[in-house]
Amino acid sequence: MMVPSAYDATLAQKQAIVAASQDMRRQRQTMIEHLAPKAGEAILEVGCGNGDLTREIANLIGPNGTMVAVDPSSAMIEQASSAAPPARCIEASAVELPFEDNAFDAVIAAQVYCFVPDLKTAVAEAMRVLTPGGRLVILDSDWRSMRWTTGSEAAFARADRIVRAHYAHSDVPEQLPHLLADQGFGNIEQTVFTIENHRSDPDTYSASINDSVETALETVSKYPEYLLSEWQAARAEIIAAGKFHFRLDRIITKAVKT
Ligand SMILES: C[S@@+](CC[C@H](N)C(=O)[O-])C[C@H]1O[C@@H](n2cnc3c(N)ncnc32)[C@H](O)[C@@H]1O
Repeated sequence: MMVPSAYDATLAQKQAIVAASQDMRRQRQTMIEHLAPKAGEAILEVGCGNGDLTREIANLIGPNGTMVAVDPSSAMIEQASSAAPPARCIEASAVELPFEDNAFDAVIAAQVYCFVPDLKTAVAEAMRVLTPGGRLVILDSDWRSMRWTTGSEAAFARADRIVRAHYAHSDVPEQLPHLLADQGFGNIEQTVFTIENHRSDPDTYSASINDSVETALETVSKYPEYLLSEWQAARAEIIAAGKFHFRLDRIITKAVKT
């Protein structure tokens, strides 16, 4: 059974904006360093979104390589197909990968598993489609590490709750080593990738998180209307004081199918 994605056309557009930010460009570069793709390899990206990482990996494995990307969102697959023309982009979920066993040299997923309720099946599927010796590279946020100077601890606490409510899991990096070991993965390693923004700028990751918070405060009826103005006022105050600061740790987990 396919798990539908919440990424409709509107969210797909917003995702394209954040994917172009300096933080996400640096994140893709770091992930590629960890993946170390080689010419001619067969690589699967799970939850490819707009296809920016897909395109960069496809270019590195070259014309003799096989780049495949899946995402359950049709809007995302449409964008990825035009962003990464050498890749085969398919509508599918992490928990039901439409591929033969042992089909890929590497599987990569960036900020995807937090959306997948059944993490155990997602990890088992990655294991199944990897060839023996194949590499798995997963980046996910430790949402509990998020710190945001807003001028109001109460406003921050609400923003934190709103952000976390968006995800099936806020602690994927903590769960992964155990899930991976249970599936028989070896050489499990974790590295921290920190996003730190010292200014409020549309070219940063925190701008997109702020947009999610403001959209939730504006559109979800459980938040009273005044909360949006309170949040915006707290942010404006801290920005005017030159004290804006946002920090989030993302963890890159690597493992090998032994
Ligand atoms: C935050 S975006 C990240 C996109 C891309 N990996 C990147 O780094 O720009 C999350 C993506 O996960 C996808 N997603 C959600 N549930 C999924 C599932 N069960 N299997 C695979 N992808 C999923 C969404 O459709 C969306 O494209």
